[in-house]
This record gives sequence, structure tokens and C-alpha cells, in this order.
Amino acid sequence: MTLQKATNVHWHEGEVTRADRNKLLGQKGATIWFTGLSGSGKSTVAVALEKALHAQGRLAYRLDGDNIRLGINKNLGFSAEDRAENIRRIGEVAKLFVDTGVIVLSSFVSPYRADRDVVRKLHADGGMDFIEVYVDVPLEEAEKRDPKGLYKKARAGEIKNFTGISDPYEAPQSPELVLPSHKMSVEEEVEVLLKLLKTRGIIA
Ligand code: ADX
Repeated sequence: MTLQKATNVHWHEGEVTRADRNKLLGQKGATIWFTGLSGSGKSTVAVALEKALHAQGRLAYRLDGDNIRLGINKNLGFSAEDRAENIRRIGEVAKLFVDTGVIVLSSFVSPYRADRDVVRKLHADGGMDFIEVYVDVPLEEAEKRDPKGLYKKARAGEIKNFTGISDPYEAPQSPELVLPSHKMSVEEEVEVLLKLLKTRGIIA
């Protein structure tokens, strides 16, 4: 965990609250955190859920591993330390979005349990919903899909620290939801997610 370096800094409250913004948007900001192997289908389901929410007049926004690594986190690689910092920053960004009232759909491999728990705690401390969704496919399935040809490169030793091949993936022990994406259609996944968001009072 990055330590607080700056001293003499204090949170400044505004006069418009999170509850006011949620009311304005007619929804409750929350983070839906998709975790799973590369190629498991995290981004696919996030894209479909964003579309479904948008069609219902809900404001959602995707934070996606590859996209974020092209911008705010372009200075980070795939060592355990860099992945921890990647996830920490995303957690903070997600928290800001949730404070605005947005439904955040974040898809990161996020292979380390401790890193995901940091984000969970960040949300809990701020009284915010954090819904961990484990997109659970066997490694063989992800490797068979290999949409970006990365497993092939990893097997050939061209990519080091590749999750599932030469780096660990720590599956969630008690996620809010498990999606076996090799056994469900994307439409079914979206349906289950929409139901969960309703149950949790995130959407009416
Ligand atoms: S995380 O582990 O820090 O959460 P993140 O989700 O941001 O990873 O990025 C993973 C994406 O980067 C993968 O979907 C894949 O496209 C690409 N990638 C490149 N190198 C690696 C690697 N060594 N391990 C995992 N993914 C990698």
C-alpha cells in the first residue's frame, strides 16, 4: 500500500452530497469489479452490461485493463508491485466515479486477492457498494480463445509474468457473483447482473 506522503492535507466537503447526485441520476453509484484470467470474458460482459444499462437510461462507465494501461497507468508493467499499484489507482478512480453516482464496470485481471481486497475496503470505508464478479473459466478455455494471441506468446516465453502461465491467479473466495462465461451466453450474464443490481438497490 502506498503511504500517505503529503502532510497537512485534509478532505474538503462540498455542499452537494453523493446522495444528491444519486438522486439527480436516479440510480446509486457502485463498482462492479470483474476479475478473471485474460480472455475470460470480463470486457465482453462489461461492454454488454454498459449497453443494456445505457438503453435503460442508466449512466455506467467502463474502466478496462488495456485502456487504462494506455493512459493513466502507462508507467506500470506486470510485476506484482506494478499490478498492486495498477489496482490501487483504479480503485481510487472507481471510488471517485461512484461518488459522482456512476455505475463503474471495471475489468482487470486483478490476480491478487490482497489487491482486490484493498479496493473492497476502500469502498466499504466510504460506504459504497463493491460487487466482485468472478468471471470463471478454466485456463484451457481462456487459452483456447486466446483473443489477443498472448497465451501463445507466453507459452513461447515471449511474455514474462503472464497470468495463468508464469504468474498466479488467486480466485476470489467469496465473490458476490460467479459467471462461468463458457457455460452462459452474454445475454444471460447481463440478465443475472441486472437482477443483482436491482436486488442491491443500485437501479430501481
Ligand atoms: S492486472 O493484473 O494488473 O489487473 P490488467 O487487467 O491491467 O492486469 O491488464 C491485463 C491485460 O494486459 C491482459 O488482458 C492482456 O491483454 C495484457 N497483458 C500483457 N501482459 C500481460 C501479463 N504478463 N499478464 C497478464 N496480462 C497481460
